[in-house]
Amino acid sequence: MTDAVYPALPGPAGSIDAAEYERQYRASIEDPDGYWRGEAKRLDWMTPFETVKDVSFAADDFRIRWFDGGAMNVSANCLDRHLAERGDSIAIIWEGDEPGDGARITYRQLHEQVCCLANVLKARGVAKGDRVTLYLPMVPEAAAAMLACTRIGAIHSIVFGGFSPDSLAGRIEDCGSKLVITADEGCRGGKRVPLKANVDAALEKCGGVETVLVLKRTGADVPMTEGRDLWLDAEMANASPECAPEPMAAEDPLFILYTSGSTGKPKGVLHTTAGYLLWVTKTFRDVFDYREGEIFWCTADIGWVTGHSYVVYGPLANGATTVMFDGVPNHPDHGRLWETVDRLGVNILYTAPTAIRSLMREGDAHVTKYNRRSLRLLGTVGEPINPEAWEWYYRVVGDRRCPVVDTWWQTETGGILIAPLPHATDLKPGSATKPLPGVCCEIVDAEGQPLDGATEGNLCLTDSWPGQMRTVWGDHERFIQTYFTTYPGKYFTGDGCRRDGDGYYWITGRVDDVINVSGHRMGTAEVESALVAHAKVAEAAVVGMPHEVKGQGIYAYVTLNAGEEPSDDLTAELRQWVRREIGPIASPDAVQFAPGLPKTRSGKIMRRILRKIAEGDVSNLGDTSTLADPGVVEQLVAGRVG
Ligand code: WTA
Repeated sequence: MTDAVYPALPGPAGSIDAAEYERQYRASIEDPDGYWRGEAKRLDWMTPFETVKDVSFAADDFRIRWFDGGAMNVSANCLDRHLAERGDSIAIIWEGDEPGDGARITYRQLHEQVCCLANVLKARGVAKGDRVTLYLPMVPEAAAAMLACTRIGAIHSIVFGGFSPDSLAGRIEDCGSKLVITADEGCRGGKRVPLKANVDAALEKCGGVETVLVLKRTGADVPMTEGRDLWLDAEMANASPECAPEPMAAEDPLFILYTSGSTGKPKGVLHTTAGYLLWVTKTFRDVFDYREGEIFWCTADIGWVTGHSYVVYGPLANGATTVMFDGVPNHPDHGRLWETVDRLGVNILYTAPTAIRSLMREGDAHVTKYNRRSLRLLGTVGEPINPEAWEWYYRVVGDRRCPVVDTWWQTETGGILIAPLPHATDLKPGSATKPLPGVCCEIVDAEGQPLDGATEGNLCLTDSWPGQMRTVWGDHERFIQTYFTTYPGKYFTGDGCRRDGDGYYWITGRVDDVINVSGHRMGTAEVESALVAHAKVAEAAVVGMPHEVKGQGIYAYVTLNAGEEPSDDLTAELRQWVRREIGPIASPDAVQFAPGLPKTRSGKIMRRILRKIAEGDVSNLGDTSTLADPGVVEQLVAGRVG
């Protein structure tokens, strides 16, 4: 079967066409210094940089440095430089949980909020280099808090509001935050989320936090700890609206964002100032072909990297109008996104395949009820999109008028790396198409041998790009170990990938022990350690399984302690337990009680077999002869759930 192809539609004046893409791609490879020197003009520098790029991925001589010698401030690039020309343009359209509950904030207003909040942080002793944890709903104050940190050079660490007190405590402790910004409660899909109560619970488990700033979101009565907790609005009302932006060196830390890996606890991915900002500024402009005055809506939460890069930094650095959505696509009904698109006049929509699949199931009528005439471009991110969902997005949502940009990237990459340019690249449903300028992709086999032409293997990046993460917070060795030792001298993405005869890339999903549930990364090891923390559980192994809406679901094999009996109640209890330990996104979709797990004689669990059983593909379990007890496989197959 040949793949469907949708030829690129010609764009308005100034959009990048196929020849311009080729020219830029070539320039970025042949003369990276010259290319990036030109691109760096997109930003305002306080001090010009001296060197463009100083990179080596070799373990014994490792460094990733961009724009050394230069200085800038991220909040000044996102706010101050727009004030003269578009101070009264809308920076953020806030769309609350209930349709029509919202607000509009101009660049000038946001600038003032950010300066006040930066002064509040300073007054509480936060200085350049200090860490600040944000645990907030999707409200404009969250963007203001991010920018206030960058204004004074503090490093923010945002924790998704759906994470449990334990997860929050671990992240606060790991980066040593001295201040937390939260809200009384969040609202999502008509339900309340006890954010402040979660912070209180987290702070019982970790020390070091001196101040908690609390935003009033719902007005709920929450306990305030004397001397530690302060109402944010009262503090901001008393703060000066003037705060000069701190000059930050190009490689100074900008933010930490925790993400799941295949081993151990989540890693604090560190991004730095100039390279990150340049990458999101350029990719936002080019991949979405953003035009002055347009309304851009990325539905991601700021607790994930997509929210950092394409709700806040990319749009604001370009002077765009960005929508912050504090709700969910199925509340109050399945037409919410399209009703909101019409009401706000959204031009560009960027969302996740899981949302598309879940809405597709509900039928076209929820979509066609609205006219969606304002839409010009559609984007997806977070997981592979199946061609059926792509076609539905293109045909039903976009009325065959709007290019669909399927964008592949990772928390680690800072911004989009593989994606079509909407008026340059012919589209193939299910393919993220081609690498952007500056991105050097290589597909390697299991031994690390590069594979040419049409092929399939593991996706590596052989050279740096400005938006690349620089280290794992507090553990540089782990950074090198995790990403640069599997295939020495190359950054290994953890993704499998196929390249077709036209040089198009098709991401096939994670090849490590990371599961992608509804576009959210979960480490199997994290879920396992939550399960074994339960008093009745002796051992657990967690794998991904195909899931119609979520992309992947979580399948847990659980061995109980002697004397404990499997039951439906216990299944429910374990699912609830994981929700409490990590958060709702980690709750297993299937729990299979297993008398034993398939282990090699040296005690290593053979996950390959567990994955096959979870997938329901039991006819071909491969070689089981190295198992200590091959008999367990039959038992597992017989006890499969689902
Ligand atoms: C997956 C989200 C296929 C991939 C920005 C990657 C994708 C992981 C796509 C990163 C896509 C992201 N097509 N797979 N367009 N986008 N992924 O760190 O497996 O939350 O490694 O970053 O999501 O997830 P993360």
